[in-house]
Amino acid sequence: MKRILVTGGAGFIGSHVIKLLVEKYPNYQLVNLDSLSYAGNLNNLTSVQAAPNYSFVKGDICDASLVKKLFKEHRFDTVVHLAAESHVDRSIEDPLHFARTNVMGTLTLLQEARLAWEGDFSGKLFYHISTDEVFGSLSHEGYFDESTAYDPHSPYSASKASSDHFVRAFYDTYQLPIVISNCSNNYGPNQFPEKLIPLCINNICNGKPLPIYGDGSNVRDWLYVEDHARAIDVVLHRGKIGETYAIGGDNEYSNLALVKLLIEVTDALLGNPIGHSESLIQFVTDRKGHDYRYAIDASKIKRELNWSPSLDFEQGLRATVQWYLEHPEWVKAVVSGAYQDYYDKMYKH
Ligand code: NAD
Ligand code: TYD
Repeated sequence: MKRILVTGGAGFIGSHVIKLLVEKYPNYQLVNLDSLSYAGNLNNLTSVQAAPNYSFVKGDICDASLVKKLFKEHRFDTVVHLAAESHVDRSIEDPLHFARTNVMGTLTLLQEARLAWEGDFSGKLFYHISTDEVFGSLSHEGYFDESTAYDPHSPYSASKASSDHFVRAFYDTYQLPIVISNCSNNYGPNQFPEKLIPLCINNICNGKPLPIYGDGSNVRDWLYVEDHARAIDVVLHRGKIGETYAIGGDNEYSNLALVKLLIEVTDALLGNPIGHSESLIQFVTDRKGHDYRYAIDASKIKRELNWSPSLDFEQGLRATVQWYLEHPEWVKAVVSGAYQDYYDKMYKH
């Protein structure tokens, strides 16, 4: 039995984590604290919304009095912290907002966990979900692992690096029981269509341009979101306190190669002739400070916690495209309103 505060559970990864934990552990109590920013969507959670071991609270992780009240009410023994601003391009536009949520929000949760658990840290865990982007950028060779020095470049990665440092500082200073995982790029159902893969799926379906930053040679290591959720489950249950786990998909693609594969898969599912959507590829101005390559050496979590990615990339992409094709109403709802203004500003120069 655990009493878990999950933050950011209405977002992309958080909703997959909530669904996995609610279904797999009926004897746990899970409370999902999410402010429902543009990226938070309760439609991601309809399959579990009535579950007796799950409840939702709309609120901000920076709101110390709310977090204190929730700790008092629910007597959490575990925090699984995913809430964040997560899109690099937005962080370039509005870095202060990222510092507020990712740094101050994390610090607020750490402080309230420490105060609530003061005097008895046994059986407690603060699990911080982070990104491989804190390690900076690789050239053609090498991998990030748990011993890689921090070297963030974007305001997003700088804010996540800062939050990781605060989490570790609470371990070193107060012995707050923590664990951190740093994962590579995720893809899968329910990802907000401002990120590369769902943006391209949506644009292929609508015959819109596929914007590729720079020359498309930047490389990312892609992991299916449900594989990440399974990794979070194993770190939560078997991770060693004070440790970091690097999580990745062993699956590197340049952006251009990825978009071409996505065109192939999507055109096939739409019944379009081979190569039909290739003309939509449009090379656009590069992202400022664009990290060249991310790639993870995940041997530690594989060796120590017996986790490995389960889905082959083409299978995962097909499942993802299929999901978007079957859920046009989900996409329509999230890309309306405020997102449309943002999209027009970003892409209609
Ligand atoms: P997301 O943007 O889809 O979801 C973030 C969620 O946090 C949303 O539901 C949003 O409403 C909520 N939120 C934002 N600000 C909040 C606040 N102040 N208070 C409460 N809730 C707030 O993000 P995601 O892609 O699901 O990422 C989840 C976590 O995983 C983040 O910490 C991110 O840094 C990390 N991560 C993401 C990836 C990736 O590829 N997406 C990879 C590695 C790590
Ligand atoms: P993104 O999905 O934003 O994830 P991250 O920046 O966290 O890695 O971007 C993935 C890669 O795709 C990254 O190298 C930037 C690139 N990209 C494009 O080329 N075009 C786009 O429209 C977007 C959103 C991203």
